[in-house]
Parts: sequence; C-alpha cells; structure tokens
Amino acid sequence: MSAKSVLYALALIIGSSYVTYTIVNSSPQKDTSKKKKNVADLIGNTPMVHIASLSKQTGCEIYAKLEMANPGGSAKDRVALSVIRHFENIGELVPGRGDVLFEGTSGSTGISFAMLCNALGYTAHICLPDDTSNEKLQLLESYGAEIEKVKPASIVDPNQYVNAARKGALQLKNDKTTASNGVFADQFENDNNWRAHYAATGPEIWEQMDHDIDYFVTGSGTGGTIAGCSRFFRTVSNKIKVVLADPQGSGMYNRVKYGVMYDGVEKEGTRRRHQVDTIIEGIGLNRVTHNFLQGEHCIDDAVRVTDEQAVRMARFLSSNDGLFVGSSSSINAVAAVKIAKTAKKGSKIVIIACDSGTRHLSKFWKHALEVDRNITLGEVIQ
Ligand SMILES: Cc1ncc(COP(=O)(O)O)c(C=O)c1O
Repeated sequence: MSAKSVLYALALIIGSSYVTYTIVNSSPQKDTSKKKKNVADLIGNTPMVHIASLSKQTGCEIYAKLEMANPGGSAKDRVALSVIRHFENIGELVPGRGDVLFEGTSGSTGISFAMLCNALGYTAHICLPDDTSNEKLQLLESYGAEIEKVKPASIVDPNQYVNAARKGALQLKNDKTTASNGVFADQFENDNNWRAHYAATGPEIWEQMDHDIDYFVTGSGTGGTIAGCSRFFRTVSNKIKVVLADPQGSGMYNRVKYGVMYDGVEKEGTRRRHQVDTIIEGIGLNRVTHNFLQGEHCIDDAVRVTDEQAVRMARFLSSNDGLFVGSSSSINAVAAVKIAKTAKKGSKIVIIACDSGTRHLSKFWKHALEVDRNITLGEVIQ
C-alpha cells in the first residue's frame, strides 16, 4: 500500500467515525436489487452523468450529480431525513403521537419533509414565501402538508417564513393541552444539514468520479451542500477546487471573493424584491448561515451568473443533452463553463443538479421556453 493510499484510508476512517455519532440511518445505500421498506430507503446514491455538449465544447469533462433522482425530487431529501432521524434519536419526534415538524422553506425542503413525514408518521407544517412557484405549492398540497404562506421578507422580520416556522413549533411544544410535540427543522442553522452531505453526497461523488475531481461547483442556499461536500473533499484530496456559483442579487459572491456580504442591488432604491433579486429559486442569500460557515474555509472561489445566462443554459442542456434541469442546476452549469475557460484542458468538473425543470415550469422555464432551442453555447454565456 502506498503512503498516499494509507493517508486516504486514514482520512476515510476518521471522516466516517466523525459522522456516525450524529448521522444515524440518514444515508442508506440504495441497492436496487433489494426490496425497500419505505421511501426513506430510496434516498441517496443518485447518479452521476457526463454532460457531453458542455464537455465537447469546453475541452473539460463536465459531470452532473443528479440529485433530482432522489424520491422527493431534490437533494433536500437527504437533509430532511437526517434532521428527522436526529429528532427521533433525541425523542423529540415519536411516530403516531401527532408530532408536527415545522419548516420555513422556499419549496424543495418542504416537499422532502412532506414526503418523509407521511412515510414516517408525522405532519409537516411548511411556511413559505407567497411567490413560491405553483408546482412546489401543488406538490406540497398533494402530499397533504399544512401550508402557511407569508409575504417575502427579510430574516429580521418576525413574519419571515423561517421565523414563522420557529414560532409555530414553539407554540405546539409549549401547548400543555396536547401530547403532540412541535419541532423546528431549521435547515439553515441545523448541523444535520451539512453533515448529511458530508456523510453521503461528498463520498458518493468521490467514488463515482474514481477519486479524480478538479472542480466542484454548486450554489448556496442554506450552505449545507457546499459545506458538507467541500469539507468531505478536504479529507480526501487537496487538489479539488470548490467554487460557489451565485445568482444575481446574492451577496455570497462578494463574501467568498472579498469577505464582504454585499450586492449592488442593496443600494437604496435599486432592490426590486425583498430577499435576493433573482428568478432563481433555492440559492443566493444576503446573510451568512450557520451551515455556510461550516464549510466557508473550504471554498476557493466564486462565479457570478445572471438570470439570463441561467435561463439560456437550461434551454441549451435540454436541447443538446436531454437534461431537463431546474434553475439552480442551470446556474451551476453556467459557472462550470466559465471555470472551464481558464481551467487546464481535460479538467474534471462536477456540478450539483439539485432538482428538475418540472419544479420550475411556471416561472423559470416559462422564460427558458422563449429561448431558441438551437442557441449556441457562446450565446448562452454572453
Ligand atoms: C433547488 C435548490 N437548489 C439548490 C439549493 C441549495 O442547497 P443548500 O441549501 O444545500 O445550499 C436549494 C436549497 O434550498 C434548492 O432548493
């Protein structure tokens, strides 16, 4: 065994023992030759696919980790399961007791919680901004989740969706007239978020890429994906460059590049929408979350992507590769192409494809449909 292999084995042992005390049963292996107990057992081990069009035209090898293949349709299934298992382990969630899990989410995480709560014996209560796309709302309704719509607002507003969820959970927890408990999932601040990606998403990518990755590219919403994956990558390699892909209106780009959380649209009189000024859902933020902080030291660079570039890229990927992706996946693909411009030829770039375009038909994809299906990659990036 070479010294490098010994070091790698040691890193894996240390890494896995670190996570086992918090991550219990949250990253099951998806061996499809065996029967599954419930949807929770279908989470994880998502496929990795080569994006032929982008690879051919950039000279780099670009791959997408298809998190949309999780049973709830996004990477958030991993987080939701990890959070629920944690509450079960500490006795805060007990199946069949009428327990309610509250979460503030602009969509995907809510859908994952709605799915898992149904399967595992709980109720999901989801607080979300009232401009969330219809597809996500309809999915939540179809799962039968309790839905509370609030006006998009800054996190300092007590009625902002995250704060509304926290308040709801506390009320139920303190209600002495019922045995049911309320818990606040708190995906932005909950350690079980990034740890789910550290324990499973990162290792899966590393194995699928045969231990050969040059760049890892993803956006940041809660920061769980980028923090968990990048922290894992640091345990196995010092060559992988982690790059944040950030939409317009988000302050994360400047935070990574210059250490300051600021975006130009924050100038007085220029902001059109309350939170992040973009049509992209799920990523981009103007505050630092606990989850992002857990991996910030492992992020090497950031790339900014406009809404127009993302919209055009979605159409390009659908037309050329049959990949029908959501808005954050599209941002990541644009960032990968920008990185490829200066990267060594043949570099291996992995992006996260968090969810599918089917979640974005009424908003993001309405714009993408207006793009000529024969658009060139040059026109996408301009
Ligand atoms: C569609 C989509 N993509 C990406 C992300 C970002 O993932 P994370 O919260 O792990 O930063 C989210 C988060 O909500 C999302 O909904």
